[in-house]
Amino acid sequence: MSTDTIDLESAYSAVSDTYKGTGDIHAACRAARARSPIFVGDFIRQFGVPTNAGMQQGTRPTFALFRHQDVMAVLRDASAYTSGFIAEGLGAFFDGLIILAMDGDQHRDVRALLQPAFMPETVNKWRDQIDAVIRKDFLEPMAARGKADLMEFGLEFPIREMYALMGFPTDNPDAYRRYAGWALAMVGGNQIDPAKAGEARRNAGIAVKLLYDAILEVVVRRRADGSRGDDLIGRLLRAEHQGRRLDDHEVTTFVRSLLPAAGETTTRTFSSVMTLLLTTPGLQARVRADRSLVPKLIDEAVRFEPVATFKVRETARDVEFHGVTIPKGSFIQCMVASANRDEAVFERPDEFDIDRKVKPSFGFGFGPHMCIGQFVAKLELACAVNAILDLLPGLRLDPDMPAPVIEGAQLRGAAHIHVLWD
Ligand code: HEM
Repeated sequence: MSTDTIDLESAYSAVSDTYKGTGDIHAACRAARARSPIFVGDFIRQFGVPTNAGMQQGTRPTFALFRHQDVMAVLRDASAYTSGFIAEGLGAFFDGLIILAMDGDQHRDVRALLQPAFMPETVNKWRDQIDAVIRKDFLEPMAARGKADLMEFGLEFPIREMYALMGFPTDNPDAYRRYAGWALAMVGGNQIDPAKAGEARRNAGIAVKLLYDAILEVVVRRRADGSRGDDLIGRLLRAEHQGRRLDDHEVTTFVRSLLPAAGETTTRTFSSVMTLLLTTPGLQARVRADRSLVPKLIDEAVRFEPVATFKVRETARDVEFHGVTIPKGSFIQCMVASANRDEAVFERPDEFDIDRKVKPSFGFGFGPHMCIGQFVAKLELACAVNAILDLLPGLRLDPDMPAPVIEGAQLRGAAHIHVLWD
């Protein structure tokens, strides 16, 4: 791997290829849900995607749950169902503040420290800045072309936004592309193919180190300059909970973990939102005329096509579901793609319907680990959809190009969205 730049598109396709797998996850979940609410064994294995359960095949008993109420019960109870094993899978180079893999009091305290920087009242202050980046840096220069693959924009804007929100210097326009490539190399480190695994892990290790050095330099400088500013790094440097503050290493490792957490997930969600907007008859005209529908469009897309189709937890004690005892130390695969379409909770669950009554679904997770950045993601996506509708009149799919397809067994999204406009 070059230590300087990584081609963003190929890094993204490498991640997509890894997590795409085979088979139709929605059909498999529907069939499994009809058969039994619990699957004894590694349900995910059939799709050929890497999972922590898969990486440690045979070492622990594994189960899968499909119902809305069961997935909710597991995700909401972080004392019985833990996440610490995630750190083992990532390897020792991922030290520092990896909140996703924390449990118990440590998770609660760190989350309380970080949370204020991500609440709607803080995030909404960033609206104009987010909107300006989307319009000025991306869509206005594109508007005269009359045609494009919307994913050229979708691939870049979330990392570009995070880069700006974090408070990195904006006088180095190439730096964010480098960061984006490194962040994708981190996500791509978990290859299932043994032939690719060694190199992918090495690349992930290099990327992790390069990002650390680059971010630490900014963090140290910002602290020396008085920890000021309304951006994320400024807020994290000043954050305090029960008399505790974050040190430079913690701010750096947390910020580093945000790039993969915030980039690729938002890119994929954008691809599903736009695909559903452009392929559902009559929907674009409605949303164009009534922009209050944009948040409903996003929420329903996150239910209908969650980026991450499942979440894994480890049992901290023996538990029982549907008469099956799940021993302490087992993996439970919480099938988000299934729970989000559970017919016991959602009417016509396989229909994309932005008018449906709002009920909890799990595309941003649930419970103590629920996505801390969800308000940032929703704001970015709403700004993107509104700007596209404003700046690209007569937007439609390009009939001469393949139509977009939302696919992937573990991480879902559309790779291309070829469009025309007037
Ligand atoms: C549409 C885009 C996004 C999706 C679909 C998404 C999805 C998720 C999900 C499902 C989880 C829960 C993981 C678990 O329970 O194990 C999560 C956690 C997290 N997300 Fe997001 N996310 C998105 C955007 C973002 C953004 C923009 C940020 C940062 C600004 C972010 C930061 C995080 C962090 C730090 C966690 C860990 C929280 C914890 O463990 O307490 N995410 N995300």
